[in-house]
Amino acid sequence: MDSTRIITIDGPAASGKSTLAKKLAQKIGWSFLDTGLLYRALAFAAQRAGLLEKGPEELGRFACQLKIKVLLEKDRNRVFLDGEELTDLLRTPMISRAASQVSAVGQVRSSLRELQKTLGERGNLVTEGRDQGSAIFPKARLKFYLTASPEARAQRRYLELGKDSGPLSAILQSVLERDHQDSTRADDPLVIPAGAVKVDSTDKSLESVFEFMLQKAISVFGVICK
Ligand code: DC
Repeated sequence: MDSTRIITIDGPAASGKSTLAKKLAQKIGWSFLDTGLLYRALAFAAQRAGLLEKGPEELGRFACQLKIKVLLEKDRNRVFLDGEELTDLLRTPMISRAASQVSAVGQVRSSLRELQKTLGERGNLVTEGRDQGSAIFPKARLKFYLTASPEARAQRRYLELGKDSGPLSAILQSVLERDHQDSTRADDPLVIPAGAVKVDSTDKSLESVFEFMLQKAISVFGVICK
């Protein structure tokens, strides 16, 4: 297997990365990886252990002791912490904020690095996150940087969350806060990776962005669609 047979999709919160990574992977018969889930699992554990308010050193030490495992299934990723499945507990707004916070700690990031690299070793992987093309898989043969205006991203998240979402203005505020936190952290901040194809989906449909990405994947890898 060729470990450069990887497609990375990086971008800010609510830019459509996980939907597109999954759709693309399913279409070309590859696996997909949602790396945000790893940070979410770690944030969940830190919150449960009462460590969120502690400093980076304590968080870093805690992260290094955890045993996180991911199963890449066809239609979803499942995440386990010391054998306990956390998959369905990680999508709350509180965990979103906490994940962004813990992901700024250098030792937290390094504790998850090997796991991500191992998952990419066999290639044929579409992986999404905030550092995939820049730090984890810099040799990936196809990289995307997906973005949209903060307003468009907040609007999408608002529609996705339904009536329990709270006001649109609060979602926009949280999107802006996470953008700031994710792109200003010292370790592996969110950047446009070298060689990435930038896609701004503000005025585009999901279908048209998907078609564009699929055509790129076909031209780079000669993949066959399912
Ligand atoms: O993609 P997501 O919303 O599930 O990610 C949650 C947080 O995890 C995000 O705010 C930043 C962090 N993250 C990261 O720092 N690096 C990644 N590769 C993926 C996520």
